[in-house]
Order: sequence, then C-alpha cells, then structure tokens
Amino acid sequence: MEILRNTSLKPFNTFGIDVKAKFFCSVTSIQELKDALNNPLFIDLPKLILGGGSNVLFTKPFEGLVIKLELKGKEVIKEDENHAWIKVGAGENWHNFVLHTISSGYSGLENLSLIPGTVGAAPLQNIGAYGVEVKESIEHLEAFNIKEQQIQVFQNQECQFGYRHSIFKNELRGQFIILNVTFKLNKKPDFKISYGAIKETLNEMKIDTLSPKVVSEAVIKIRQSKLPDPNQIGNAGSFFKNPYISIHELKILQKNYPNIPFYPQSNETVKIPAGWLIEKSGWKGKNLGNAGVHEKQALVLVNRGNAQGNEIKMLAEEIQSSVEEKFGIKIHPEVNIL
Ligand code: FAD
Ligand code: EPU
Repeated sequence: MEILRNTSLKPFNTFGIDVKAKFFCSVTSIQELKDALNNPLFIDLPKLILGGGSNVLFTKPFEGLVIKLELKGKEVIKEDENHAWIKVGAGENWHNFVLHTISSGYSGLENLSLIPGTVGAAPLQNIGAYGVEVKESIEHLEAFNIKEQQIQVFQNQECQFGYRHSIFKNELRGQFIILNVTFKLNKKPDFKISYGAIKETLNEMKIDTLSPKVVSEAVIKIRQSKLPDPNQIGNAGSFFKNPYISIHELKILQKNYPNIPFYPQSNETVKIPAGWLIEKSGWKGKNLGNAGVHEKQALVLVNRGNAQGNEIKMLAEEIQSSVEEKFGIKIHPEVNIL
C-alpha cells in the first residue's frame, strides 16, 4: 500500500476544493485498511474515510491520514422466487452498481440512478431520490469498529435510518467504517413513479411498457436537466436538508405565502423544499466570491472556479441567515463540512 504525503484532494472531492492531506492512501482489502489504521506513523493522527468525495466540503487542509476505500466486489449470496440478496463492497461506484442490478433483472434501486459516490457511503445518509430511499433495499451491512478492531453486523433496523439520517452519520459518527452492504432486491418490480416529473418524462419518452431500465432512464433525464454535473462545475448535490416544520407553523407561513410548497410527513409535520426557501430569499443564481447558487436548483451550491471551502461555507451561512430571517426556519447542511 502506497502512502502519499502532502497530496492535493482536488481530484477526490466533487466540489473540486484544492486542499492538501498530510497523508493519503487507497485500500483495496480489509487487511490493508487495518494496516493503515494501525500503522504507528499515523496512530495518533486523525483519519478520514473517503468514498467518492461527493458529499464533503473541505474547509482546511486535512492534518492526518485520508483513507480512500476501494473495497470491491458484488456477489449474489441468496435467491428465492421473488428476491435476490446481493453483497456489495463499500468501494463500488453507486451508479454502476445500480445499472448492474437493472441489467441483472433486479429492481428496487432504479429511482436512485445517477447519484454520485460509493456503495459504502449510501447508508451513511440513507441516500434518497424520486420517492425512494436506500433503506428500503438494505437488509444488513458489515462495518469495522475502529476502537474494538472488529467487524460488526448491523441489521436494517439497527442502522436507525431516517431522512438523510443513520446512526453512522450521527450517534456513531467516525466510529465505524462500512465495509459492505447486503441489498434485498425484487425480481418482480414494484414501480414507484408517482414522484415529481417521472410520469411526465416517461410520457415524453413515449414509454408504454414499464421496466426498471426505463424508469432509470427517466430519472437520469430529469437529474441531468436540473443538477449540475460535478465534472463540469464543482458541487455536492443538495447542500442543505429540506426542513420539517409543524402544521401550525405552516398555517402561519401560508398567510404571507399562500403558494408555499410542502410535503405532509405525518399528522403534525410537513417538509418544506429548502430550494424554494432559498430561491424566495433571493439567492438563486447569485454568487459570493467564487461560490455560487446554481441557477436551476437553488439547493445546490457550486464552485465557480478555484473556490476555497471557506467561501462556500460563508455563502451557506449567509443563506441560512437570510432564510431564517425571512421565514423563521433554520436550514441545516446535508453536506459533511470538514
Ligand atoms: P463521501 O463524500 O466520500 O463521504 C461522505 C461522508 O461519508 C464522509 O463523512 C465520509 O467520511 C463518510 N464515509 C464515506 N464512505 C464511508 C464508509 N464506507 N464508511 C463510513 N463512512 C464513510 N445524495 C442523495 O441522497 N440523493 C441525491 O439525489 C443526491 N444527488 C447528488 C447529486 C450530485 C450532483 C452530487 C455531487 C451529490 C449528490 N448526493 C445525493 C450526495 C452524495 O452523492 C451522496 O451522499 C453519496 O452517498 C456520497 O457518497 P461518497 O462515496 O461520495 O461519500
Ligand atoms: N424548488 C424551488 N426552487 C429551486 C429548487 C426547488 O422552488 O430552485 C422547489 C420546487 O417547488 C420543487 C421542489 O422545490 O418542486 C422540489 O425540488 P426537487 O424536486 O428538485 O427536489 P429537492 O427537494 O430540491 C430532493 C433531494 C435531492 C433529490 C431530489 C429528487 C434533499 C436535500 N434533496 O431535492 O437529493 O435528488 O429531491 O428526489 O432532500 C442530494 O441529497 O444531494 C440531492 C440532490
């Protein structure tokens, strides 16, 4: 395993922030991962696990060891008439894995097409899009307990999945490294096409027979029409989570903003699209230094070229203040700020 010193992390984060890591290595096996964690040279230094770098914002150099997980492998471990269970290495590319499931005849992940990053990071924030969250297809996962130096199995319920939430992003943050994930996928598709523009896009595509492949193609088309490609312009997808507010708070807001969009979550709460709050606060398409708000999706902050992480963070803080001042709603970052 090669250890690099003073390496730029620019190619390893989709915001394209140019900061250095004191030490950097890629690991392709659990043994290499253990060796990196226990190497006496780095034992007292902070460690950062990196997948595709599509949900991080570096605001300063990383004065420790960055470990890029390259644990690979996809294996069908069980099958019955209706389902297949696939165990997948944390370092596999998420979108390539989704395409692999579709071409293998399995459904469940097609709505999650084109999300950047790795399989191992997907449970961390319970990735979601177009009416589906990854928690619906995860049976269990294996994670390395850094302190105890042993592998632990977490069943779906134990991961405490919620909206952009899991035990690994919160209570157990930094304590476990997800090594592999076992998905339970359907052999008989149960299509979820009621969300947003999926039906409309399928009509435009003149699709009359549904399949996981065409749903995936529709999702890809929608995503490409509004989300910036990180290869063209640095970003990490939605910068903030959509906030939850009470029905009581909604009713008060509706007096001034009768058209405020909302998604009921329970009898007491609704989710408000943060993109709408940011747009109505006047930020859509605006820049602050080299940091900007995407012109097609106000929830996405972008690197206009050579931005420093702190410029993006400052813009995010300005947006948080504006939204709170105008609507009395606090919005919180989804991106991991480092
Ligand atoms: P990284 O950015 O490398 O890591 C994210 C965090 O997870 C870090 O704190 C890291 O330390 C930790 N981590 C990474 N791997 C592991 C592991 N194996 N074990 C323990 N900790 C780990 N997200 C959505 O939910 N829905 C979307 O629709 C969506 N769209 C996006 C669109 C774009 C254009 C972009 C750039 C991002 C989008 N995202 C979306 C966010 C992002 O793709 C996901 O959060 C993705 O799961 C991050 O994967 P990654 O491998 O890049 O994680
Ligand atoms: N909206 C605006 N202006 C904007 C953007 C959005 O008014 O500039 C409003 C519109 O009312 C629109 C609504 O917000 O109908 C929802 O917008 P969109 O469908 O684009 O979804 P989102 O809520 O902004 C969420 C996820 C995305 C995911 C999409 C599709 C979060 C934080 N973001 O975005 O996930 O791809 O839904 O399901 O939940 C990510 O997490 O990085 C991410 C991209």
